Amino acid sequence: MNSSNHIGSPESPKKGRREFINYLLGGSFAAWLISIVYPIYHFLEPPKVEEVKVSNLKVGKVGDMEKESGKIVKFGSKPVLVVRTAAGDYKAFSATCTHLDCIVQYRKDYGQIYCACHNGRYDLNGRNISGPPPAPLAKYNIAIKGDEVIVFKDES
Ligand code: FES
Repeated sequence: MNSSNHIGSPESPKKGRREFINYLLGGSFAAWLISIVYPIYHFLEPPKVEEVKVSNLKVGKVGDMEKESGKIVKFGSKPVLVVRTAAGDYKAFSATCTHLDCIVQYRKDYGQIYCACHNGRYDLNGRNISGPPPAPLAKYNIAIKGDEVIVFKDES
């Protein structure tokens, strides 16, 4: 009669211990890996920033800007170029170039909106007229209330 049939294989307890240790080591490795990867993931993930909703923005008094000048204002989180033309009218456009997102500026010497990154040019209606910009600048609206100049954007 074989006694191992009743008691079991002499290797069974060792095998069980080995599997248990392998299980523990595997779990430790997984925990170590998570402790490395998780902080890196959170470091690389950009923080969630709420978009500031702005429907209109006072940019100054009518006489504050000289004719043939421009200035950049922040409309929420977006830069907007406000231009006062030679005729004294106000106009406003997105200040983000439609080529590669550089910030445009008003150039009095050209009488145009200019992007210094790649010599892109827009006319005073925001139309792309020269250089690499593929599309016109987005328009903002201007309202004069009393002597305040207000920039606003249609939500439609
Ligand atoms: S980013 Fe404005 S012309 Fe290239």
